[in-house]
Amino acid sequence: MSDSPLKIGVLVSGGGTNLQKIIDEIAADALDAEIVLVASSRPDAFGLERAKKAGIPVLALGRSYYDAGTADPTIARAMQDAGAEYLVMAGYMRLIGPEVFAAYPDRVINIHPALLPSFPGAHGIQDAFDAGVKVTGVTVHFANEVYDEGPIIAQRAVSVREDDTVESLEERIHATEYEIYPWVLRRLAAGDITLGADRRVHVANGE
Ligand code: GRF
Repeated sequence: MSDSPLKIGVLVSGGGTNLQKIIDEIAADALDAEIVLVASSRPDAFGLERAKKAGIPVLALGRSYYDAGTADPTIARAMQDAGAEYLVMAGYMRLIGPEVFAAYPDRVINIHPALLPSFPGAHGIQDAFDAGVKVTGVTVHFANEVYDEGPIIAQRAVSVREDDTVESLEERIHATEYEIYPWVLRRLAAGDITLGADRRVHVANGE
């Protein structure tokens, strides 16, 4: 167990409800972490408002950064300057580039609303629903340079019910996200998560 809070940087593109849950868990002393910076790929992301309200510094990037190829070096530099030890993607809809992985090798985490490697991509909930699967869920994994790929840290199953609509399924998936992401971050803050040479993740004190 480390003696100082884990310093994390959070990456968002949208509403930021997962970010909010992490903010709330920290405020409630249920997660020994500090969000040192929230970066957004969109200047109008509501997640930025959530961060500002919580007194967290923000970095708002726009399309011009991505078009010019300066987004990733800017993020890497800003996160390092802020002292982030890990980067936590929470609805970040851009691919992370090599400059960020160079600064944070095996230290970027993503959450995906399906049981990877099934249903990667921007519509994981809808795609699982359309495929008629009876079980889907949530995955937290180390990110790499491919969307929704990389060593899996934790997964939770969510059953698809007979009377589910995509909206009702989505609600349960999100509720599950708000449990699993803080759980993983707690394990990370406690030093319980290691990535083996075999690229498998080992979670001490896991389930
Ligand atoms: C979540 O469903 C997450 O799994 C996916 O994007 C969504 C982000 O939602 N990667 P929010 O911005 O945290 O509300």
